[in-house]
Amino acid sequence: MLFNVSQFVFTLGALTQVARAYDNHEWKAPTADQVRSPCPGLNTLANHGYLPRSGRGITIPDIIDGAVAGFNVGNDSILQAAKFGLLSGSSLTTMDLDALALHNLVEHDASISRQDWALGDNLHFNETLFSALANSNPGSDFYTPTSAGEVQKIRLDDSIARNPNVTNTNKEFKLRSRESALYLSIFGNITTGVAPKKFVNIFFREERLPIEEGWKRSETQITAETMNAMSVTIHAASNWTASQACEPLVIGPGVVL
Ligand code: HEM
Ligand SMILES: *[C@@H]1O[C@H](CO)[C@@H](O)[C@H](O)[C@H]1NC(C)=O
Ligand SMILES: *[C@@H]1O[C@H](CO)[C@@H](O)[C@H](O)[C@H]1NC(C)=O
Ligand SMILES: *[C@@H]1O[C@H](CO)[C@@H](O)[C@H](O)[C@H]1NC(C)=O
Ligand SMILES: *[C@@H]1O[C@H](CO)[C@@H](O)[C@H](O)[C@H]1NC(C)=O
Ligand SMILES: *[C@@H]1O[C@H](CO)[C@@H](O)[C@H](O)[C@H]1NC(C)=O
Repeated sequence: MLFNVSQFVFTLGALTQVARAYDNHEWKAPTADQVRSPCPGLNTLANHGYLPRSGRGITIPDIIDGAVAGFNVGNDSILQAAKFGLLSGSSLTTMDLDALALHNLVEHDASISRQDWALGDNLHFNETLFSALANSNPGSDFYTPTSAGEVQKIRLDDSIARNPNVTNTNKEFKLRSRESALYLSIFGNITTGVAPKKFVNIFFREERLPIEEGWKRSETQITAETMNAMSVTIHAASNWTASQACEPLVIGPGVVL
């Protein structure tokens, strides 16, 4: 009996592997029993089957492989976030997307498209907040590192004005700036960070790769290094200062936030 049960479980696991291996990566909105995160990047990968469409039981190798396959984003720029993600639940090796809404783990205040945790729904897309990005760089069809930095400032000023408990340390700023550089690099020019608004808007609003609108996955891998120059511009345009100090956070050998 026990033998039969484990054989059944093994078979189910094998079938899941096969199903993923043959996923055609067409976009599908999540069904009611599939979970998603506050991250438009991970959600888009799941909506295209580059991550398990269930949104559950996701491993770090799943994320690393999915980011390369879907976006050509290299592991160096997302590995730390992925490792933090394991702390969102009790599994030693996997995470569920919805659990990533855990406040102040990776999830942070002053997001582009989600409310601050203390103010409301920090998980789902919010068009009112997203209008700061949608209305940025008026008169142009492109977002740029400068406009992305300005949007970060608008969103942080709003949080500071309305959220008495806003968390705004170097950690949140580094995460927010990395997230800006990621959407600019994936949907725009990897060197200049100039990105068509149409592509970025579809990514945030629909959590979909705008393939039918003409987007192509970058031929060059997006890495921390390719994002360096645009990050400097993002920082300058955001005119950022911390609201609180944070204890030095060690996230790897020689890497302190
Ligand atoms: C695969 C490449 C990735 C891309 C393109 C990406 C992109 C983004 C972007 C653009 C945002 C900003 C959303 C906003 O401000 O409204 C974001 C937020 C977030 N990301 Fe990702 N991300 C990636 C990988 C990851 C990984 C590996 C994790 C952790 C497992 C993660 C967890 C999060 C979380 C929790 C947020 C919410 C932060 C917040 O706004 O409060 N992301 N991501
Ligand atoms: C991360 O990417 C580098 C460069 O492509 C590769 O050499 C390394 O094996 C990757 N690490 C993991 C954990 O996949
Ligand atoms: C802010 O934090 C304090 C203390 O933790 C708490 O009493 C208060 O309800 C919080 N306010 C908001 C708006 O979250
Ligand atoms: C979106 O965010 C705004 C501003 O915080 C809030 O007033 C509104 O209720 C949110 N909308 C939804 C659908 O949660
Ligand atoms: C990005 O922009 C640079 C500078 O304008 C240009 O030389 C390069 O060809 C562009 N890259 C792509 C992939 O279009
Ligand atoms: C930048 O921030 C400083 C300090 O918070 C402030 O005095 C200054 O007015 C800001 N500049 C702009 C252009 O927002």
